[in-house]
Amino acid sequence: MKRPVATEQFELGVCYYPEHWPEAMWADDYRRMVETGFTVVRMGEFAWSVFEPEEGKFQFGLFDRAVDLAHSYGLKVIMGTPTATPPAWLTEQYPEVLNVTYEGVTLQHGMRRHYNYSSPKYRELCAAIVTKLAEHYGNHPGIAGWQIDNELNCEVNEFYSESDHLAFREWLQHKYETLDKLNEAWGTVFWNQTFTRWSQVHLTRPTPSPKQPNPHQALDEKRFISYNTISFAKIQADILRELAPGQWVTTNGLFGHLDSHELNEELLDFFSYDSYPQFSSIYFDPAEENPLRDRGWSLSLSAVRSISSNFCIMEQQSGPGGWVNRMDMPSPKPGQMRLWTYQSIAHGADMLLYFRWRTATMGNEIYWHGLNDYHNQPNRRVKEAAQIGKELAQIGKSIIGSVTQASIAILRDYDNEWDGEYDNWYGPFMWQSNKEWFKALQHKHIPSDVLYMRSSTTLEELSRYEVLVYTHPAIMSDETAALLDQYVQQGGKLVFGCRTGYKDTRGQCYMRPFPGAAQEMTGITVEEFTMVKGTRQPTSISWSHDADILTGADAFNDILHVEADTVEVMGSYASDYYAGKPAVTRNKRGQGEVWYYGAVFNEQAVLQMLPALGLDSPAADWLELPPQVELQIRAGADKSAGSLTFLLNYSEEPAELLLKQPRTDLLSGQTLSGAVTLQGFGVLVLQ
Ligand code: GLA
Repeated sequence: MKRPVATEQFELGVCYYPEHWPEAMWADDYRRMVETGFTVVRMGEFAWSVFEPEEGKFQFGLFDRAVDLAHSYGLKVIMGTPTATPPAWLTEQYPEVLNVTYEGVTLQHGMRRHYNYSSPKYRELCAAIVTKLAEHYGNHPGIAGWQIDNELNCEVNEFYSESDHLAFREWLQHKYETLDKLNEAWGTVFWNQTFTRWSQVHLTRPTPSPKQPNPHQALDEKRFISYNTISFAKIQADILRELAPGQWVTTNGLFGHLDSHELNEELLDFFSYDSYPQFSSIYFDPAEENPLRDRGWSLSLSAVRSISSNFCIMEQQSGPGGWVNRMDMPSPKPGQMRLWTYQSIAHGADMLLYFRWRTATMGNEIYWHGLNDYHNQPNRRVKEAAQIGKELAQIGKSIIGSVTQASIAILRDYDNEWDGEYDNWYGPFMWQSNKEWFKALQHKHIPSDVLYMRSSTTLEELSRYEVLVYTHPAIMSDETAALLDQYVQQGGKLVFGCRTGYKDTRGQCYMRPFPGAAQEMTGITVEEFTMVKGTRQPTSISWSHDADILTGADAFNDILHVEADTVEVMGSYASDYYAGKPAVTRNKRGQGEVWYYGAVFNEQAVLQMLPALGLDSPAADWLELPPQVELQIRAGADKSAGSLTFLLNYSEEPAELLLKQPRTDLLSGQTLSGAVTLQGFGVLVLQ
């Protein structure tokens, strides 16, 4: 039975590092945290050397005092297990715990996450420190829960130490049993890679051409890393469950090569996420049309929600962010931190901690600003946090436990994400298309979910949505296709993009017409296909409902051929030698329909499809919103009890809204109706 994120109140708090500050400051810090409205504080996650300064010599004095004092101020403590930063004595004594790069370079002490998950010694030492911590704090009334490690697979998500090669081989032996089966799955007959002894089998290694390993091996490697990460975390989770049964367990994600759904399902009470919307300023592409910027974080939050419908934001950006020589992010403008806080809440957060209480004066993160500056005097960000604290103390109880509502989901799956990381012929398309779909839905105020297709996914889960969009699932098993088809037969609408269905779960290509496993349900085949890049001129699609509307047929073109008489051509290519051939089709099937869109999606194309898919804003009857305002809805299990509509203005400029029915804004307590101005970066929570 999993514990909920929050039951009594919305839990607001901050990450704190008592070991970084003179003890004489702690009481004042805690007092001001409580004044800010904080109820929870995370600590300990990098403090291994404080807990165990020498192997086997444990001491808890500093954290006992820090935890007890926090408790005396009524703050609940989240204790981090410190395994993301093994101490220098450990890596010196047991260098085999260090991680090794693909090229074979050992990554030394000096940053963090400098370890591998496979080393038996590291697993043993982690188990020892976590056992001691859990024995010591497992019954402490001031400890609410635990964070395992910190950001598993952040910074590094590849591991090539000797122990990793051995563990991979063992995992393969378990998976394939015989070398013959492994040889077949990896297609080793190609280029004479056939293995005749298990000792020849490794994780991918440098080859004559840089980073171009066997693709089937590369896919299995990522599956293994995920398995191995979970098995590493499980050691800690098992200890905590046994020794701290009254406290909850979480960890903060979401990173590559890790099935976070499985991690959460098997080990955690709920999932946590670290939300830094200002990363959008680092990855900003000036060529992108209509960029979502910080609002794009809502798509990541939707992925988090697919893991755990209610979650904790373990770190929420609270200032300009940067390490000494990278990630130089601008400061949040007045109101922006509050906006991002409600962004997290609108998407399902029931607990949220700012990172961090005070900016570090030393180390790599001296520019990763916390709420307080080095000088520790009152500032704008602390004031803004106090406003949020006050608001959530009032309205938090009406929010927690409710879940977001959506009639469309963007489907994703780990196999395609991992295989697509290497395979350029479809991998990058998924990120592009999902973003464009999300953008179109955001601008039309149609809330969406992310849903992961997993071996355990049921028809019931799919059927909660009127529309499912699975942009470029190159890998598709016949079982997955059958499940999706069932969804369609009973009334669902399913949309695919180019490069769908042509690979099996080994990553090998089916000897069938494209779209392979999805051919029957789409009612089409792909006559020809091409990348659209390099010397190829961009192509476009003309839409059947209005031939004058042209949208770009981006990146890749599947030239479609209609096979079934239930198929309607919704759009055709408007240029190149395949002008006039079908580019977008809709197959009526059972009670539902299957769309095939032959290219990589863009917002303009999605906007052509939305009306035909019957999608509209759930608030269309009573609310008119400009595009820069995000709409999200959270409702309790009993929907008749009403729902909360979150409106978030990502623009610095005021937004004009029209409420055709009166609604109460929980934040101000005012009843609003008619023309309403939502201030720049403003938030409304309408009941
Ligand atoms: C991550 C980590 C934190 C800190 C912040 C800022 O989210 O979990 O320890 O490093 O980034 O860099």
